[in-house]
Amino acid sequence: MPVPRGRPLIIPSVLSADFGCLRESLKGMSGKAGWIHLDIMDGHFVPNLSFGPHIAACLRKATALGMDAHLMVRDPGLFIKPFADAGVGLITVHAEIRGAWECVRKIKALGLKAGLSLRPRTPLSRVLSRLKELDLLLLMSVEPGFGGQAFMPEALPRISEARRAIAKTGRPIWLQVDGGINDRTAPLAVKAGADALVMGSAVFSRSDPAGFVGKLTKDLQRG
Ligand code: DX5
Ligand code: ZN
Repeated sequence: MPVPRGRPLIIPSVLSADFGCLRESLKGMSGKAGWIHLDIMDGHFVPNLSFGPHIAACLRKATALGMDAHLMVRDPGLFIKPFADAGVGLITVHAEIRGAWECVRKIKALGLKAGLSLRPRTPLSRVLSRLKELDLLLLMSVEPGFGGQAFMPEALPRISEARRAIAKTGRPIWLQVDGGINDRTAPLAVKAGADALVMGSAVFSRSDPAGFVGKLTKDLQRG
């Protein structure tokens, strides 16, 4: 997992990849993507199911890139150790669940980096005073649960406010944005202050996902 350097990175979400050929889908991604995003859904916190630690362990062997697990689950405490064992480097839990900060402590105690995520309507004030405890803040720009939804423009002022608060901490905390990011919305999110752009359908709908990530990253970093 790289350290933030003030340059935006694209974080492909495999949720929209072809699960019949995940290794193939990630071909050429090293050196282009920042790392890989794993969307974990339990059918309770969000109305969808995705995959568990076994697939994460398979992905660990299929790519040299780091991986983060975005736990959209009601009881993330159950899954921290299994995903750590599967080889993810950062685990994000949702601020809306009970015991979220306890999970952050648990993740860090295992030597991993920790993130906290907010649904689009959860007030930022829930996390701003404790930002220093985080390695990553994830602002959702769609209601979590499904790939391929439209970006909610209301996310932009939240990104700017979070960026200002992160700057005040003086710490290298990633500001990740997730949902509806594509070549049109990515520049808006970057301008607002995001530096880790999760991208699912916009990447894996291409015939050359890695080529797309490489080119868009260059464009975004040129500004
Ligand atoms: C949605 C997930 C996202 C999703 C993004 O709940 O957290 O990571 O994969 O997909 P796109 O980029 O298609 O909106
Ligand atoms: Zn996600």
